[in-house]
Amino acid sequence: MKNYINILCIGAGYVGAPTMSVIAQKCKECKVTVVDINKKRIEQWNSDTLPIYEPGLNEIVTSVRGKNLFFSTEIEKGIKESDIIFVAVNTPTKEFGFGAGMATDLQYWEKAARQILEHSESSKIVIEKSTLPVKTAESMERILQKSNNGIRFDILSNPEFLAEGTAVNDLLNPDRVLIGSKETKDGLKARKKLVDIYSNWVDKDKIITSNIWSSELSKLVANGFLAQRVSSINSISALCEVTNADIKEVAKAIGMDSRIGSKFLNASIGFGGSCFKKDILNLVYICKSYGLDEVAQYWENVVNINIYQQERFVLKMIKSMFNTLASRKICILGSAFKANTDDTRESPALFIARKLVEEKVELVISDPRALNNTKLSLKDLNESISYIEDPYEASIGSHAIIICTEWDKYSKLDYNKIYKQMVKPAFLFDGRNIVDRKKLFEIGFNVFSIGKSDLTHY
Ligand code: NAD
Ligand code: UDX
Repeated sequence: MKNYINILCIGAGYVGAPTMSVIAQKCKECKVTVVDINKKRIEQWNSDTLPIYEPGLNEIVTSVRGKNLFFSTEIEKGIKESDIIFVAVNTPTKEFGFGAGMATDLQYWEKAARQILEHSESSKIVIEKSTLPVKTAESMERILQKSNNGIRFDILSNPEFLAEGTAVNDLLNPDRVLIGSKETKDGLKARKKLVDIYSNWVDKDKIITSNIWSSELSKLVANGFLAQRVSSINSISALCEVTNADIKEVAKAIGMDSRIGSKFLNASIGFGGSCFKKDILNLVYICKSYGLDEVAQYWENVVNINIYQQERFVLKMIKSMFNTLASRKICILGSAFKANTDDTRESPALFIARKLVEEKVELVISDPRALNNTKLSLKDLNESISYIEDPYEASIGSHAIIICTEWDKYSKLDYNKIYKQMVKPAFLFDGRNIVDRKKLFEIGFNVFSIGKSDLTHY
């Protein structure tokens, strides 16, 4: 019988399942099992309709599923049979008790660690794939070291840097793979095993190693830096709107400085997603807990600017639509937190939707992929919102359109057709700067963009 490396991943979400699918595809000597407590999610991973939308993922999953990739709810069995365990459970912001609204809620993580301890019958390498506060590996080690039956657990940190919408490409061609370990003989041996797995498809010079805490911290800091760029450009977008400068021109001019670079300079209605806010708040919490209040404040402002940007957008809508939105029909195009995903976690569109419902707007939300998640996220408001996938149908009879997600199709819509079926004066708020605003203005729209002067007919 073939001598497989048995890999288990606990957590079949946006990170666990795509990452394991790529490992299974690239590492034929690995048998990869992905387990989850969510039975429905596992059923979907085993079906023709995967539980998440991620371009290119379907092809990879179907090429390896049932061969060396398996999805299961049998967590105990998975733990028993494994040599290597990735833990990719969710680590949301804590909503209760000390650190509520800022610290990471480690309950799912801790439960996974206890399950590993309870059901292990042989030594294992346990890998942190979830994003975690610095020093979590140390806590995990403490939990696992309770075992006194001769079983060893070597803990590694291997944070995931994929972005949704480009996850498959990010996994196949990562900028880097980071592996943190203890710098002991056993720690280095475990690290080498993981390096060998990634070496199946990642260049050796892109696989970097560090101590565990540097690895844990690097993940939080990477997200902090990316989000900080978005908040920086968004803060300047406010200044552009009142000075007639154009944020795209400013971003181009600064981005061509090779020391700055052009990525993550798209001004928007604000960043969303399950990671940026949560990871920055976690960083803030860690800094505060070490008494580094100025450092904490610096990073907290990245989140504050993001809230400001979203609120500013809604206030601008109210002001430009003659100070009342009550009973007016408004259509949101795009509820995913970015294009090419069905994920709506922390999506600015949801924030805007909630504010508009408070203003008693008759709201319609359209999105090509994310309507199911949107309905779940806004289920307390569903009596006030209609969901229509087709953007033409969704915008019939509306006073305003808001583009919240930069889906490619929204830049190519027939806006002449849409304008004709809207109530006049017709407003278009482009929260992603993706439409040809001059053309839309010529059609008759009053056009409001991010970081650009308004184009109005009144
Ligand atoms: P997710 O919510 O999509 O998936 C997590 C899964 O873990 C869920 O399906 C949940 O049911 C399962 N789970 C929780 N506890 C479990 C347990 N004890 N046993 C078995 N299954 C359990 O979350 P995600 O987006 O995949 O994120 C996972 C981690 O990866 C988080 O720490 C996140 O910060 C990090 N991360 C996410 C992204 C991203 O783009 N989503 C990118 C990089 C890192
Ligand atoms: C992010 C990190 O990029 C990734 O490395 C990490 O592993 C997880 O968190 P993700 O949240 O999936 O990935 O998407 P990302 O592309 O980073 O976008 C985050 C948010 O910022 C989105 O709402 C996006 O629309 C917004 N954004 C991004 C901007 O508003 N402007 C930009 O220029 C870039």
